[in-house]
Amino acid sequence: MTLATALPVLQETAAPERVGELPAARVADVRALVAREMGEIEDLVCARIAGGVSPGVESAAHLFDAGGKRVRPLGLLLATACFGTIDARARDLGAAAELVHMATLLHDDVIDDGDQRRGRPTSRRVWGNAVSVLAGDMLLVEALRLASAGAGADDKVTWTELVATLGRLVDGEIIQLRGRVAVSLDEATYFEIVRGKTASLFEWALRAGARTGGAGEAAIDALGRFGSSIGVAFQLVDDLLDYDGDAARTGKTLFADLAEGKLTLPLIRAAAGAGGASVSGLVARVREGDEAAARELGLFVRESGACERVRELARGETTRALAELAIVPRCSASEALADVARGLAARVS
Ligand code: IPE
Ligand code: IPE
Ligand code: MG
Ligand code: MG
Repeated sequence: MTLATALPVLQETAAPERVGELPAARVADVRALVAREMGEIEDLVCARIAGGVSPGVESAAHLFDAGGKRVRPLGLLLATACFGTIDARARDLGAAAELVHMATLLHDDVIDDGDQRRGRPTSRRVWGNAVSVLAGDMLLVEALRLASAGAGADDKVTWTELVATLGRLVDGEIIQLRGRVAVSLDEATYFEIVRGKTASLFEWALRAGARTGGAGEAAIDALGRFGSSIGVAFQLVDDLLDYDGDAARTGKTLFADLAEGKLTLPLIRAAAGAGGASVSGLVARVREGDEAAARELGLFVRESGACERVRELARGETTRALAELAIVPRCSASEALADVARGLAARVS
């Protein structure tokens, strides 16, 4: 029996009317459906970390042990389950997705001077930047080893797509770096960054999952577009939570993007609403380390209504994602994917 036929629970629950109104219990249900397979992915990731060299092992374990949502492997497994059975290859690819994600987090916290992650001091704060960079590299190598293991034609395609994804991810981060010194950032560039640094890995995970489950090319493309859209929505919500979130729930420092001089959509939208000039002056002062200016700007963004508008955009992206699921045979796994998408748009952590 495939997972798709073994998950009746979600079919029995009425679909929520609106995107973004998903009860937490329902998200927990989705996770419970693939709990065993997700547990196996945890073990795989853990074993790959343990096989490394100290202090890379300790640095990576510090991040891994702190938890995290594990949403990329979850999406991958559900995509597989829409079309076939979750086998060892799907689990390897799920572990690879989480390892790539963790590598980007270790590197990202060095790039962003991140202090808090998953409710803990960042790895770079404990072991320093050099160890964090190398620990990230170590995880990336393990991800590539896992993803390159299969010998079939589909395995080769998935591997090639992973390498292309890593290229897009790195380009997104580099383009974002340019924006740190820019006085303003246009929305097109913002979305280019988001599609590169975040949506690309979601897209790969959903495509890889669908392909390993035996989906045809049209369905793989649709799942890829679904992944890309939920990835964009995911980053939109991450960016608004930086202004409007609760640090106790996100596990990250509030106003961190601002402190780094990073221009994200809530700030871009708030600045556009205020005519721009006064905001540019404040951004310049924040970049010079003026903490009072950072507080003033953070509160200004929060009170401008921009975060609500960004949340609406995330819901719109999610609606586009849900439309892509039309090609997937209706089953418990596809319902679960829809629930994951709605849950991510509504999330507060
Ligand atoms: C954080 O990703 C980085 C972004 C792409 C915004 P997550 O929010 O998935 O991080 P964890 O894995 O749950 O900690
Ligand atoms: C996500 O962007 C970066 C990656 C894709 C690794 P952020 O810089 O917003 O992520 P957080 O907020 O530090 O998790
Ligand atoms: Mg960051
Ligand atoms: Mg962020």
